[in-house]
Amino acid sequence: MACPQPPQEAFPIDPLALAFNYPGGRVDLMARRLDGAPRDLTPARASLARLLVARRCGCNAAGIKIGHNPDGAPRIVAPARALSLSLAGRDDLVAAAVADGPLGVDIETIGAPVEPAFNVLHPAERAALAAAGAEAHAHFLWLWTLKEAYVKAIETGLSREPAEIEIRRLDNLSPENFSLDAPASFRIFDCDRPVTTALARAGRAIIGGRAAMVACVVLARA
Ligand SMILES: CC(C)(COP(=O)(O)OP(=O)(O)OC[C@H]1O[C@@H](n2cnc3c(N)ncnc32)[C@H](O)[C@@H]1OP(=O)(O)O)[C@@H](O)C(=O)NCCC(=O)NCCS
Repeated sequence: MACPQPPQEAFPIDPLALAFNYPGGRVDLMARRLDGAPRDLTPARASLARLLVARRCGCNAAGIKIGHNPDGAPRIVAPARALSLSLAGRDDLVAAAVADGPLGVDIETIGAPVEPAFNVLHPAERAALAAAGAEAHAHFLWLWTLKEAYVKAIETGLSREPAEIEIRRLDNLSPENFSLDAPASFRIFDCDRPVTTALARAGRAIIGGRAAMVACVVLARA
């Protein structure tokens, strides 16, 4: 018997597709490089979301409806499943993730080094970054994608003050070596209180030949 084929969407190449298991659930993540960098990434995010939800739910992409909460957080309207959805995009890259719990995803392209925006960092992160030397740019992107993924998971977006959120490293790996496959060890603190995550990882990935930093945070259910 022939295997069922995953629903197809109008993308010329397969996206990066990863799955991470965690106690009580699984997150599926997809990212892809577009043919050019449109000013509005909304349609590309929605299209990738439908493809991802179709694969996760084993249904046809045509029947999937994505909506938004009043705060802007995306949600799966149809099919009715207890799954969280999160979307992100930067330049010509888009990312989508679904999980069994509150979820945030973020993606940033890794380009020429720029001066980190110290004002969005927690004081402890500023100190760590000041000592990072040539790796400061990669380290900043790693911190920033994690912060954005976290504020999406709590659905506040950047109405929350990002400097109140601390990503605290628990290892001495060089940021140059962080990858989604071999992520750094860290914890998230919000207003100095530890956040209980079911899964949190961030690192580099190559998407359609472009280097990117990707972060994904799933909160533990209360
Ligand atoms: C959510 C936010 C962090 C996204 O960051 P960004 O760099 O603009 O864009 P990204 O590509 O990373 O993410 C965009 C996606 O975030 C998601 N998103 C938007 N608001 C969200 C929220 N409150 N919670 C979770 N996810 C949200 C959406 O899915 C959006 O894509 P879509 O509209 O195509 O569905 C940012 O837009 C934000 O903070 N918005 C809320 C606050 C706000 O609007 N402030 C305005 C000026 S202070």
